Amino acid sequence: MSIDIQKIRNDFPVLSQEIYNGKPLVYLDNAATTQRPVQVEDLVASYYNQGTGNIHRASHYLADKCTAAYEATRDRICEFLNAQKREEIILTKGTTDSVNLVAYSFGERFVEAGDEVIVSEMEHHSNIVPWQLMCQRRGATLKMLPMNDAGELLVDQLDELITDKTKIISVTYISNVLGTVNPVKEIIAKAHAKNVAVMIDAAQAVQHLEVDVQDLDCDFLAFSGHKIYGPTGVGALYGKEKWLNEMPPYQGGGEMIDYVKFDGSTFNVLPYKFEAGTPNIIGVIGLGEAIKYVQEIGLQAIYDYELELLKYTEEQLRKVEGIRIIGEAQNKASVISFLHDKAHPYDLGMLLDKLGIAIRTGRHCADPIADHYGITGTARASVAFYNTFEEIDLFIKAMNRVVGMF
Ligand code: ALA
Repeated sequence: MSIDIQKIRNDFPVLSQEIYNGKPLVYLDNAATTQRPVQVEDLVASYYNQGTGNIHRASHYLADKCTAAYEATRDRICEFLNAQKREEIILTKGTTDSVNLVAYSFGERFVEAGDEVIVSEMEHHSNIVPWQLMCQRRGATLKMLPMNDAGELLVDQLDELITDKTKIISVTYISNVLGTVNPVKEIIAKAHAKNVAVMIDAAQAVQHLEVDVQDLDCDFLAFSGHKIYGPTGVGALYGKEKWLNEMPPYQGGGEMIDYVKFDGSTFNVLPYKFEAGTPNIIGVIGLGEAIKYVQEIGLQAIYDYELELLKYTEEQLRKVEGIRIIGEAQNKASVISFLHDKAHPYDLGMLLDKLGIAIRTGRHCADPIADHYGITGTARASVAFYNTFEEIDLFIKAMNRVVGMF
């Protein structure tokens, strides 16, 4: 199956807009957030226009309609990730919320003083800080799996890093700064050989390659809706039932309880035990539609197309005078970070913006990566299946113009 780019572009009219007096918008900041197809926009609008009922709570038409659509997203995510059971899919606010849930709740139940948690050097802050907070609370130690200068994890070092005190490893599938696709299956196998659980941050992965949680055998996996062509403020956590059943609730409130008394409450079954309060109902419904859209194109077709686009972008970018690519891993997806020998990343981003090109600049919520390279940050372009080779040419033309000013 291949990509029908014309059809896709029609589904994303926002990509065809002109900004700053006639500059075609070239959106290359997909690792930060993606645009949504009209199918998602229309469905979301229809739920606002035709009325909303609160889910799981009332027996009337709108409540039933919203509950069914909300729960259908759970079923779709279950199928999308190839989870064994829908009870293993917790609907959250996004990857950050999912990681915080696991760090808190797994920590409360399974981490004791003196235990260890491992994260990698290339994590987003949202896959470092929740573990750090949990380790401080539980008296545990946070350890770091390093990477080499190409931006590849030194997976063999896990043999030394994992001890009989290690309880969980949390690692990103694809780096939001370097684009590295990590060998997560190998990491999971190494960890499981020593009875250590593994959480995968798939915020930059589920939209670019097929993710099968049973094949990976990960214990937890998180992703966000807004990076997979869906609404902001929604996402999911996959967790093996055996862990989720044992873990205490993360937040208290409506829906997560079975019965409440002043001398103690009992809690709901999975997945509701972890879904306190009224969620982002329409956002979740929109997320289901976004995943359906991606499934219809097919992740293999998306992967193949985006890889060609990425290789072309890197090849062209290397020809621009003074450019240095940060992140030279063998296996990369979607993301290219780069520096120029004279221009600061912020200046590159600002000047490119004036020419219609949207990239991201800075430390990308991953300070340890900047520290590894001894840099203050990078400029970063990140492609999606709706980007075209012509857009990359516009980006490169703009880059040549911008760097010519320095
Ligand atoms: N984590 C997002 C990024 O890398 C926001 O841009």
